[in-house]
Amino acid sequence: MLRMPKEIVRVASIHELPPGHMHYVDVDGLPIALANVEGTIYAFGDSCRHEGGPLSSGVLIDDTVTCPWHGWTYSVRTGKSLVPPVGLRIPTYPVHVHDDDVLVELDWPE
Ligand code: FES
Repeated sequence: MLRMPKEIVRVASIHELPPGHMHYVDVDGLPIALANVEGTIYAFGDSCRHEGGPLSSGVLIDDTVTCPWHGWTYSVRTGKSLVPPVGLRIPTYPVHVHDDDVLVELDWPE
């Protein structure tokens, strides 16, 4: 069985993420988008499942992100695509906020 070591990484300051905004971070080559939905921070894979569009450069309305390239949409809470082909997922990552720090929990394959 493949072991997946967990790592908690500081990725941003809460001040970089006002409500309704997104922020891009690169964690050792892993592209992650952060979104602030009414004060709750979500982290998800920045690459669209269609052709890899940068989701953090798209549009965030409520908890839905729209890809800037061709308009596919995803829930930032679940990572599920909301338009056909429904059921595709982008990865999501647990988020912790400690004081001003936004921390993301990552599983790294060994
Ligand atoms: S790359 Fe995102 S919709 Fe095409």
